[in-house]
Amino acid sequence: PAKIRIRHLQDAMRAGRPFSMLTSYDQYSAQAFERAGIEVLLVGDSAGTTVLGHDSTVHTTHEDIRVFTAAVARSVTRPLIVADLAFGTYQAGPSDAIRHGVDLVRAGAEAVKLEGGHEIVPQVTALVQAGIPVMGHLGFTPQSVNALSGHRVQGRDHQAADRLADDALALQEAGAFALVLELVPSSLAQRITEVLSIPTIGIGAGPHCDGQVLVWQDMAGLSGFEGKFVRRFAHLREELERAAREYRGAVEGREYPGPEHSFD
Ligand code: KIV
Ligand code: NA
Repeated sequence: PAKIRIRHLQDAMRAGRPFSMLTSYDQYSAQAFERAGIEVLLVGDSAGTTVLGHDSTVHTTHEDIRVFTAAVARSVTRPLIVADLAFGTYQAGPSDAIRHGVDLVRAGAEAVKLEGGHEIVPQVTALVQAGIPVMGHLGFTPQSVNALSGHRVQGRDHQAADRLADDALALQEAGAFALVLELVPSSLAQRITEVLSIPTIGIGAGPHCDGQVLVWQDMAGLSGFEGKFVRRFAHLREELERAAREYRGAVEGREYPGPEHSFD
């Protein structure tokens, strides 16, 4: 199957074909998702919480994301690879955004994602002018968890909904090729999806977005996270624990390794 490029997401949107994005930070998950036909792999700053043990993505560094991006990029050829700009690597201005964006592209990213609305339009414009495709991210934006007073659905009242829709349009006009909507009411996600000419990608944003995204360890039941918006399509946490227990039992019972695992 052909390499996925940003225009394929636009084609899917126009054809009314929902597409899928999953986070990935390592070789084996990336290869499994490529074989499964997942169109977009996101090297998200969620790596800091899912892999590195932090309690917030504000702790994920540019260097963390650069290393994971390179790992994913070495491992697959077909999916579009998008990497997050880490907290603190673009807020100061366009030149900072470009420097870090260029670095992620050199590591293997084909687009970058950053959080925010009208306040980051100069950064989005600069990245696009530098030839780096930009994915926006609105609604609940985890790097602003402290300013937003925790994980909360955004855009619930009319004013907040209008502001979110305005931000979405501002990002589109600045040249973003797609937009993640996180934790917004499905009616608002539907309205934004109808207004925009670029694809929306929802997480906790209902069924009307053009694509969907999940953190892979949530999708596969490895994290144990049970948020309302998550469906666990596997139960890897239990499966991995079971395997480790059986391994330990086999070692303690001197049942593993057997002759078939041993060299003469
Ligand atoms: O870092 C991440 O995993 C994300 C997705 C949840 C959209 O930004
Ligand atoms: Na992220």
